[in-house]
Amino acid sequence: MIILKGAPVSQKIQADILQELAGWNLRKIKFPHLSVILVGEDPASSIYVTRKEDMCKKLGFSSEIIRVSTGISQRELQNIIIDLNKNSSVDGILVQLPLPVSISAREVLETIDPLKDVDCLTEKNLGKILTGHPLVQPCTPSGVMEMLKHYNISVQGKNVAIIGRSLIVGVPLIHLLLKENASVSVFHSKSEKIESQLKNFDIVCVAVGKSHAFKYSQFKHDAVVIDVGINRSSKGLTGDVLNDMTEGKNHIKAATPVPGGVGVMTIAMLMKNTLALAKLRRNAYENLES
Ligand code: GUN
Repeated sequence: MIILKGAPVSQKIQADILQELAGWNLRKIKFPHLSVILVGEDPASSIYVTRKEDMCKKLGFSSEIIRVSTGISQRELQNIIIDLNKNSSVDGILVQLPLPVSISAREVLETIDPLKDVDCLTEKNLGKILTGHPLVQPCTPSGVMEMLKHYNISVQGKNVAIIGRSLIVGVPLIHLLLKENASVSVFHSKSEKIESQLKNFDIVCVAVGKSHAFKYSQFKHDAVVIDVGINRSSKGLTGDVLNDMTEGKNHIKAATPVPGGVGVMTIAMLMKNTLALAKLRRNAYENLES
């Protein structure tokens, strides 16, 4: 079984970004700036946003984490976003999810200017995925696609299953896979008889957010298993698929590990998106100037 690690793919993306920024440096163009809003002190979310900030530093982007308490009202949160939308120094805005239940995540995300929506979670940017001409792509699904490409796993004509239909992963991933000519099936919590169908798929992307909900032996012999889950349990970080190196080793062809698989890619793709939106804004500015 081949282990599809995220680190080499992430490093390649980081190298590409650094190469592009070297050109920006020569032309004295201001490097990208990412603003991240963190509501509350959820330990997992705090770790994620710190990793995003660390990666920004590593690449030379400027960044800020705006930390607000869970008592913040939706209107106050939206006002912070409106100020960031107006701030010409800010290229990307990310609201770390989940938000407290008292706040409508959809309404908050819709406040973000689509041209600064580095997560690709506004309706406008999600809609652009359907037309095949997105400004940016959602970080985790595009990280999955980047990994498949890096490891030369072609999806064209393949039977690909997505298990999970979240707006952050499953739903956009359908479209990114379709664009690459995969034959896509989606399973979710209401799907019947999933077990009996799993062996039909060459590639399975699991994003259900439940530790060890599946095991390798349930998939087709020689399947590629992409585990998008990052679950915190007493065993540490675990995927949605049991990392079964005894039984699974001879059964499937390749799998992403957790940790060290798709999770690593999400941050790399966020950086790529921040650079892409910064570039768009710089180009628009240059066009106005000329
Ligand atoms: N929380 C967990 N994953 C994500 C993500 O990709 N984007 C945001 N904004 N919040 C998250």
